[in-house]
Amino acid sequence: MKKLAQIHFAHRRDQLAAEIGLRSIAIIATNPVMMRNNDADYKYRADSSFFYLTGFAEPEAVAVIETFDTEEEGYCYSLFCRERNREMEIWNGFRAGLDGALNDYEADEAYVIDQLDEKILEKLLNKDQLFYRIGHQAEFDTQMTALLKKAETTHRHGSVPTQIIQLNHIVNEMRLHKTSEEIELMQIASDISAQAHTCAMKSVKVGMMEYALEAELNYIFGKNGCVPSYNSIVGGGENACILHYVENDKELKDGDLVLIDAACEYQFYASDITRTFPVNGKFSEAQKALYNVVLQAQIAAIDAVQVGHSYQEPHHVAVKILVQGLLDLGIMQGQLEEIIETERYRQFYMHGTGHWLGMDVHDVGSYRIDGKWRTYAEGMVVTIEPGLYIAPDDDTVDKQWRGIGIRIEDDIVVMKNGPHVLTSAVVKTVEEIEALMMIS
Ligand code: GLY
Ligand code: MN
Ligand code: MN
Repeated sequence: MKKLAQIHFAHRRDQLAAEIGLRSIAIIATNPVMMRNNDADYKYRADSSFFYLTGFAEPEAVAVIETFDTEEEGYCYSLFCRERNREMEIWNGFRAGLDGALNDYEADEAYVIDQLDEKILEKLLNKDQLFYRIGHQAEFDTQMTALLKKAETTHRHGSVPTQIIQLNHIVNEMRLHKTSEEIELMQIASDISAQAHTCAMKSVKVGMMEYALEAELNYIFGKNGCVPSYNSIVGGGENACILHYVENDKELKDGDLVLIDAACEYQFYASDITRTFPVNGKFSEAQKALYNVVLQAQIAAIDAVQVGHSYQEPHHVAVKILVQGLLDLGIMQGQLEEIIETERYRQFYMHGTGHWLGMDVHDVGSYRIDGKWRTYAEGMVVTIEPGLYIAPDDDTVDKQWRGIGIRIEDDIVVMKNGPHVLTSAVVKTVEEIEALMMIS
């Protein structure tokens, strides 16, 4: 098993310190604990950017990076966290405490979280710029602005930051470019998710409930130490046409397809897979025809994920093939160019072809630079997920197509020598799917 220690958290802090420049302070807080109902909380998940910089997964923690007047002085990394507390640890588990922050998490200074205001006030002295995630957590915004105000009066004879700068842009850009260690973790997440999809294809039965099929996926995620990276979508028949269908509470019927969009995160790194397959193991002619259009679009779009190509290139490639397929099958009428130009295809394909993938399933990182789509660079990871969705009540199309929803989604690393598919371990051609389902 890959150890988190192999991830270079310190290197990321070095990078951040270099980006913020001299006489600056960057402050980043982790997520609060979220309550589910009454006093029962959701299983805790640290904030992705906070974890990215610290490797620290406990709640109630804030990291501070400070730079000084000269480069020679380097930077100071302070970690504010909970103190060790025997009684609390008996109830709620281990805490690293201040010693842990210094020794295991390599902080230069460690403080109890209750000292945050007092210490930040000191650290704001003689800084020109304050970086934090403005607008990320309303309470933290209030705390920061109050501290700035207080610093002005407290430090009358010294300077306090005159600029507040959005920290997101810097950290998001760092997170967008994955290192080989990060890609290794994403490969593990992808392999486990692929195994879960394979298991779902093998275990689906006519009459099964969607949630029972979801349970097969969750079992594979859980036994590999993973959690779902987003709410699983298991949509039988026309439920596949609801893009964010998460109820998963209907019966899977003979003759229907089932669309599963589900995947796990492994050590804070997500995967994101969709497969669509027949509940009874055999595609109908209509299902097969539509499926093959989506598959052809997906394969061509993956091929367009090349260093130097525009982010939108795969989308353009996918749309062209999907529209041509809809014309060939008689589902749409008209001219290819006109349908693309007017976006009439959105009747059947209403979402984008992918998104950045990383610690968050819809990962951070801008899609445009100076208003223009950015280009792919080595180490970026993107999903490619075209689909076609024919609404069950769409009387503009022949009955045989209505209520069919198909999406195929894989995770792609941009590499020098072309796209690398992290999720290739789960089959996706009609023949492969039918063969797998037949032998199980
Ligand atoms: N599973 C969410 C997405 O595919 O974007
Ligand atoms: Mn996706
Ligand atoms: Mn997905």
